[in-house]
Parts: sequence; C-alpha cells; structure tokens
Amino acid sequence: MRTPIIAGNWKMHKTVGEAVTLVRELLAGLGAVHDREVVICPPYTALFPLRPLLVGTAIQLGAQDVFYEAQGAYTGAVAPGMLVDVGCRYVIVGHSERRQYFGDTDASVNRKLLAALGSRLRPIMCVGESKPQRDSGEAEPVVTAQVRAGLAGVPAEQIAEVVIAYEPIWAIGTGDTATAADAQAMHLAIRQTLAELYGEERARAVRIQYGGSVKPENVDELMAQPDIDGALVGGASLKAESFLRIVHFQ
Ligand code: PGA
Repeated sequence: MRTPIIAGNWKMHKTVGEAVTLVRELLAGLGAVHDREVVICPPYTALFPLRPLLVGTAIQLGAQDVFYEAQGAYTGAVAPGMLVDVGCRYVIVGHSERRQYFGDTDASVNRKLLAALGSRLRPIMCVGESKPQRDSGEAEPVVTAQVRAGLAGVPAEQIAEVVIAYEPIWAIGTGDTATAADAQAMHLAIRQTLAELYGEERARAVRIQYGGSVKPENVDELMAQPDIDGALVGGASLKAESFLRIVHFQ
C-alpha cells in the first residue's frame, strides 16, 4: 500500500563532475525498479546539470533544503519554484544539521514544508531526538512534538504527499544505528500521532523513513519493520555500490 522510498542525502559533497559520474554509475547498476521510489538529493549546484541524465529514469531529484518565500531579497536562499524549475520532485526540510548549524526551528520548518507543498514539491520532513533526550526518556514526546509542529496547517488531502524521516541525531554519521526494534517503536509513535491528526486511514498512507547510519548491512532488517517505509541515507549514498545495495533492499 505504501511505496517504499529510498533517498540519498549527499549533504555538502560532490562537484558537478563527481555528481555526474556517480549518477552514471547509479543508472548503470539500478536495473528495473517498480515497487520502490529512488530519490537523490545532491547539493544545489549539481541539480540542474543532473536533470537531463535523470529524465525518464527511475531516479528522482530532490533538494536538501528550501526557503519558504517565493522570491525576493533573500540573499543566499532558493525558492520552491526554483527547485521545481530544475526538475526537483522532493525536498528535505528540517534536517538536524539545518536545525543545528543554520537556525532552522519547528516554526521555520513548518513554513518550508507548507511552501514546498504549495509548489507541488514533496517534502521529506526530518525529526529526531538528541542523545541526552533519548537517555532521559524524552525521545518520543520530543519527536512527536516535532511532527505536530512541522505539520501545522497541512490539510488532510495533502498529508500523503509528505514523507517523514525519523533520524535520531545520535545515529547520524556515527555508524551507531538505532536497533530495528527501537526505530520501529518510534515509527509507530509517529504514525499514531498522524492518526490523531488525520485519522487512521490517512495515517496509514504516509511514508516514514528511517535515517541514521543506514548501510548495506542493516537496511534489510530496518525495512522489514512494519512501519519503516524507506531510508534517508547520508554517507552510504555517496558511493554507487553501497547506495544501490540499499536501494535493492529485500
Ligand atoms: P548518515 O546520514 O546516513 O550518514 O548517518 C543520514 C542523514 O543525515 O540523512
């Protein structure tokens, strides 16, 4: 019922030349994919050059962030319509690195998400607790509060367009993955929150990705969980071999 979605978050990696090389390798090894969506999120500078390579392929383009205004005097910012213009279908909002280094808050993440939906971009909204929050037993209330705040004002008929990525901060880039059982428990809590907001049926339609040290070695177990519908992959998305293995999870 929910089509799994594997997305690569390249973060601040890859020149245009390197991006083109990686995409050629991905396309060469991808094969036919019918039962899952594949998205790559390169840096802004590589989006436009990659577009012609991806047209008509099974790989969709996404961006790593977006601003919420449509245009204007916002130096350094990129508008939703500009991402659509270069071929993006998805955009990540609220990644913990944006929250940590660039001042994103639940409120600004919510504005970005609404602006993305308004431009027919599908947002991938990241949520996740810190290590101290997990250790003090607050992980679930922290994450479900982020979900509620980030989704404020999203109409019921658009909620299935939103992808939520549960990314525990302590698992990002550390090699320290959440256990499949812990990830599943949080995904279930997120889906219950969605059900409170939108009803059971609509909640069942929303894809919830896990992110944080997803690797070829752990993807199958994570994807076998009933409420894990995909992966948001950082480090392991930078090499064709590891990303393709993750895309081809069993
Ligand atoms: P990681 O990053 O796979 O390198 O842990 C995931 C992310 O930050 O989206």
